[in-house]
Amino acid sequence: MLKLTALASLLLPGALAAPAPAFGIPGWGTPPAQSPVVNTVKVGGNTFTNHGLVGAGSLPSDLRDQFGDTIGGIGSAIAFDQFSFKKNFDGSYSGVLYAQPDRGWNTEGTTNYHARVHEFSLKLNPYYGQNAQSANNQISLNYQKSTKYSGPNGIETTGLDAGEIYTSHGIDFPAAFLPNSNQKALALDLEGLVHDPRDGSFWVSDEYGPYIYHFDCNGRYQNVIVPPDAYIPYINGVKNFTGNTDPDVGRESNHGFEGLSISSDGRYLYALLQAALVQDGGTHATREEYTRLVKYDISNPFGEPKLEGEYVVVLPQFNDPAEAKNPRTGESSELHFINDNQFLYLPRDSGRGQGQSNGTSIFRNAEIFDISSATNIAGSKYDNSSNPVAPDGKNLDSGVVAATGTPFVNYDDSTQLARVGMQNSNAGSSNDLDEKWESLALVPTFNAPNDYFLFTMSDNDFITQNGYLNGQKYKDDSGLNMPTQILAFWVTLGGVSQGVELVE
Ligand SMILES: *[C@@H]1O[C@H](CO)[C@@H](O)[C@H](O)[C@H]1NC(C)=O
Ligand SMILES: *[C@@H]1O[C@H](CO)[C@@H](O)[C@H](O)[C@H]1NC(C)=O
Ligand SMILES: *[C@@H]1O[C@H](CO)[C@@H](O)[C@H](O)[C@H]1NC(C)=O
Repeated sequence: MLKLTALASLLLPGALAAPAPAFGIPGWGTPPAQSPVVNTVKVGGNTFTNHGLVGAGSLPSDLRDQFGDTIGGIGSAIAFDQFSFKKNFDGSYSGVLYAQPDRGWNTEGTTNYHARVHEFSLKLNPYYGQNAQSANNQISLNYQKSTKYSGPNGIETTGLDAGEIYTSHGIDFPAAFLPNSNQKALALDLEGLVHDPRDGSFWVSDEYGPYIYHFDCNGRYQNVIVPPDAYIPYINGVKNFTGNTDPDVGRESNHGFEGLSISSDGRYLYALLQAALVQDGGTHATREEYTRLVKYDISNPFGEPKLEGEYVVVLPQFNDPAEAKNPRTGESSELHFINDNQFLYLPRDSGRGQGQSNGTSIFRNAEIFDISSATNIAGSKYDNSSNPVAPDGKNLDSGVVAATGTPFVNYDDSTQLARVGMQNSNAGSSNDLDEKWESLALVPTFNAPNDYFLFTMSDNDFITQNGYLNGQKYKDDSGLNMPTQILAFWVTLGGVSQGVELVE
């Protein structure tokens, strides 16, 4: 009987697990009078405090959406419906969370996955106590519905490799032929998500272009932002959006706009490349740290978005004893606006985490960079790939000042993970942290000014033994069932204007 119970609790997804205790039980629901401090950092005169984890949760690998397809890859990007997030009388929280899958199951080649965004109702029952817990059920996610996106030609999109180009209104879109068809569809590998609070529309950034797409609340194509030519991939002088080979210049394959965020006033959209452009060193894992941030003015709903800023951001470096060449560049998987000059981003290692040959991660850190002293290179010679900002990634061009990061929230903190029943380990347990943490979202705690919950979710790459795609069953060759995991940290952020919502 005991064994059965233990097994059942292992198999139960976070969403179905018994609700965590709340009211009147020490450590749950009510924040302590004295806020715990894990660490404090100062950036540009503002103070940022990490109070530690308050919750964790997970979704099973074989959950399916309203179309019958496996729900996976959803930690690629998340965004709250800010108006929905509220504190309940018992100290718990609830709200609507949007989660953005990337291009579908692709561990054995790309698939014809129609891009979509999922809606979940989220519940957080924060654990404020300091004791280690065996359960990681403080956060539950209940699937509500999905919205599919359509391309500029009105037809469905695809996750197949963008080896083709579809031209419409003078714009070259990454495309692929739909299976058994001569119809080209917009090819999307989506990694960043903004839910625009003004009209409920979605801004989504991708890796093929790398472009930023605008879809209305029903998923219909509205517009696209094409970055400067320096970002566009060319092979032998010919534009080519494939993710299968690295181009000669432009974004590296599978290293597009991983991060997308919007300013609190909804005026500016920001996108951050995962790592340097090829001409800036992008294809060298040990020197691809000079990545770029773009800033677009989107305040005119009838006008074209306008490039207003472009900055070099230096990614952090770390040593991985398992790699022959060091130091490695910590590629960034996400971006989040804090104020006009400061941003959270998410550099991390790869190939380490649950199900990987070594599950123990050595570098995962939500960091803060500040662009107040950085050079705005928008519209400069660097927007032409013939003029790298850091030729081959070796040295930053003189005259260009880059923004650098300050480590803030360390995901791999064993004491914090243990408090919510998680671990950074090689144990082969479903509580081991996943490899790919790719999203950040902030919501107010309503307990103190500038206090937020920093939510983050993992991308499980659709890895399951009970998968479904377009009516076909699939089993990932790894033999694994990778859960989607979600964590919530409690943080205090300096430099946020009072009464201003951090949207997204
Ligand atoms: C893009 O490059 C890929 C890989 O080299 C190739 O298969 C494909 O045909 C190219 N596409 C175009 C439009 O040239
Ligand atoms: C896994 O990586 C960690 C961190 O580098 C290292 O300490 C550990 O020895 C590695 N374990 C195995 C089994 O290789
Ligand atoms: C980029 O610069 C090169 C070399 O000066 C030039 O030949 C090319 O036309 C420029 N490309 C664009 C798109 O302006």
